[in-house]
Amino acid sequence: MPQSDAAARAVPGAPSMTYAAITGWGKCMPPSVLSNADLATFLDTDDEWITTRTGIRERRISHVSGISMAHVACARALACAGLEPADVDLVIYGSCSNDEAVPNSASGLQLKLGATNAAAMDVNTACTSFLYGLSTATAMIRTGVVRNAVVVGVELISPFMDWMNRGVAVLFGDGAAAVVLQATEQKEGVLAQKLGCYADARGILRVRGMGTTYANRGVALGDTIWDFDGQEIFKRAVHGMTTASHDVLAKSGYRADEIDLVVPHQANLRIIEFVAKRVGAPMERVFLTVQKYGNMSAATVPVALVEALEQGRVQPGALILTPAFGGGLTWCSHLIRWGKRTTPIGTTEVDLPPPRQTALERIRELIALKEPHGRSNSGLMSAELAEVPQSEPAPGAPSSLAA
Ligand code: UT7
Repeated sequence: MPQSDAAARAVPGAPSMTYAAITGWGKCMPPSVLSNADLATFLDTDDEWITTRTGIRERRISHVSGISMAHVACARALACAGLEPADVDLVIYGSCSNDEAVPNSASGLQLKLGATNAAAMDVNTACTSFLYGLSTATAMIRTGVVRNAVVVGVELISPFMDWMNRGVAVLFGDGAAAVVLQATEQKEGVLAQKLGCYADARGILRVRGMGTTYANRGVALGDTIWDFDGQEIFKRAVHGMTTASHDVLAKSGYRADEIDLVVPHQANLRIIEFVAKRVGAPMERVFLTVQKYGNMSAATVPVALVEALEQGRVQPGALILTPAFGGGLTWCSHLIRWGKRTTPIGTTEVDLPPPRQTALERIRELIALKEPHGRSNSGLMSAELAEVPQSEPAPGAPSSLAA
């Protein structure tokens, strides 16, 4: 486009170089704690195995919906930023455990927040959903589509967990956290990022039973089988997080020793240690929550970021790296420049109602609801998957959908 043409079409008053600063942050952790000892009451496992192999000692179990957790986290983030809900232009709901498929979760969150002027979208890249959402919101702010956004990472995994599978049941927890992004002329927010996906490995981390593929096959919603190759996920996770971090450092021109804090996805302490070593960041500069919350999928990085702020681990102007991976197998790393403010402008009274059960009571209830375990087995295993060549349906099998 000729320059004069471009100038004529430029949005009046649009800034020449806009960044997306993080100006608000808030988390919502359900209060009910499920310990390793609790898990050992119904699984053949023990605290020693779980702690040594993963670093996890306990996790939280939610008594409310994902949207309810997201609402509390976002209300706190907005108060922290000193922003009214009506000022929000965009709500992004990062999750792979949505309350409903239609309508989307972001609309439910928009409603609860009273963010009546906002666009509302869900982002699902499994554990990296918050960070892909952060990229999306940052890009929309930097290109002038919106001026501010709320991005939440939220996960309600407990209803979909296969609680009788000790290989996965010990790893996950529920939770939520959000950030507010606002346009600024200061060089803040996401400075560099690398997003990627090892789609050839999408089959190594699959929750069978979530999605329309399983519809009309006699599968009870919530009855799941977790296809999970822990060791392969481990290797791919370390590779993806390291590759993305090296890429981000190379293109931003920063050295590893200039990173003030690494806030990684926290699926397993040993994965984090491998990544930190390969990136060249000492563990003193890595912020950990895995021991008390386990893997909260999309909520993990934002919850850790909020806790790092609460504990004074983020100084004004800090450089933060957030390597992560998730099902798909998606991976990414973001380099974030923090602004001047590391304390909230305001707070809110918005909170969760108290739980009526302990975490263990809730899990026992979920297990009972799923009994007899595996009743949906044939439906869960006969579903057609993108990476598996389609074959003729067996006589009597549900008719297939076009791939
Ligand atoms: O967001 C993505 C989420 N997924 C991940 O992050 C998974 C990444 N991978 C991992 O974190 C690790 O691979 C695991 C923690 C899942 C497993 O650790 P591992 O060191 O790779 O153990 P393994 O799978 O090789 O299993 C070793 C043994 C097996 O027994 P045998 O075959 O040696 O007799 C398992 O059956 O440990 C057994 N085992 C358990 N034992 C006690 C597996 N789970 C448990 C358990 N308690 N919970």
